[in-house]
Amino acid sequence: MIVLGLETSCDETAAALVNAERQILAEALLSQTEDHRRFGGVVPEIAARSHLAHLDSLIEKVFAQSRLRFDEVDAIAATCGPGLIGGVMVGAMTAKAFALALSKPFLAVNHLEAHALTPRLTDNVEFPYLLLLVSGGHCQLLAVEDVGRYRLYGTTLDDAAGEAFDKVAKLLDLGFPGGPAIEKAAQTGNAKRFDLPQPMVGRKGFDFSFSGLKTSVRHLVHGMPGLTPQDKADVAASFQRVVCACLADRTKRAMAQFKKDFPQGTTLVVAGGVAANGALRKTLSDSAAQAGLNFCAPPPALCTDNAVMVAWAGIEKLRLGFIDSLDFAPKPRWPLASSE
Ligand code: KG4
Ligand code: ZN
Repeated sequence: MIVLGLETSCDETAAALVNAERQILAEALLSQTEDHRRFGGVVPEIAARSHLAHLDSLIEKVFAQSRLRFDEVDAIAATCGPGLIGGVMVGAMTAKAFALALSKPFLAVNHLEAHALTPRLTDNVEFPYLLLLVSGGHCQLLAVEDVGRYRLYGTTLDDAAGEAFDKVAKLLDLGFPGGPAIEKAAQTGNAKRFDLPQPMVGRKGFDFSFSGLKTSVRHLVHGMPGLTPQDKADVAASFQRVVCACLADRTKRAMAQFKKDFPQGTTLVVAGGVAANGALRKTLSDSAAQAGLNFCAPPPALCTDNAVMVAWAGIEKLRLGFIDSLDFAPKPRWPLASSE
């Protein structure tokens, strides 16, 4: 079973071919970072036009790489939300056109589900598992019970973790995208220099909050005119330490709850763009060990947006017969768990 996956929900245009034996047959990805850099963030209209301009050639590339013919795929999957709707429509319409022309099933993939299921491709993790999903738009703790079955423990009350990284990077003038820039600057910084607040830490429940932390960083930075590169590195390192502490605190509580709810569950998984962060991976790996759970984080290139995860989510859906109709409408918002 082979699925073609397409990803166009934000600023990565990507195509991939994956099979049910968990093999990546081919992948191609074009990051639009340079198109958006001078705006300091992703501009939806530019993103959509760029997806339109490049998606076809990326699809050609993966078929050439894999030496497969179009009609050798069993289905076509595309991210159909959540995301920037102009871009999502480009991927969805392309996948529908392929599906129609080849008389193959069309699979509408939830981008969050694609992140959530990636550890099953990379590490064959079995259901149920506890997932910390940390990306540019989302920050959630969920029990992943099965394909399409999620139990939400906690979510952010304001900003997502990735958004906080991006905003702090902007404040420090470290460039875009913010997460990798903060991580790099933090490597030469003193993480203990600044004492920043740790929102929600020690509180009941599993929710997150990052806007207060971001405001504290803004006050700190505005109070230090003439910031040197070392100052910036110290702010970045202190901020990263605190974000890791907040994420770990909530995850520890969720691990305790998950173990009660799902005694057969063995694994904590982290996924989404922020899961590429080395400091976070180390922190969570220690927390999981303390809680007696295994820890799984996909390779960084499969944490940030890519089409491999979309093709894999397509395989998971197709195996269960979850095929979508060609009149499926792309969704700018598409929560994984209904209680959101
Ligand atoms: O999953 P993703 O690629 O796109 C969304 O679905 O949102 O996540 C993008 C987010 C951005 O906020 C980016 O700054 C963050 O992930 N990110 C990181 C790192 N790499 C990407 N955050 C912290 N450390 C990183 N190394
Ligand atoms: Zn994503």
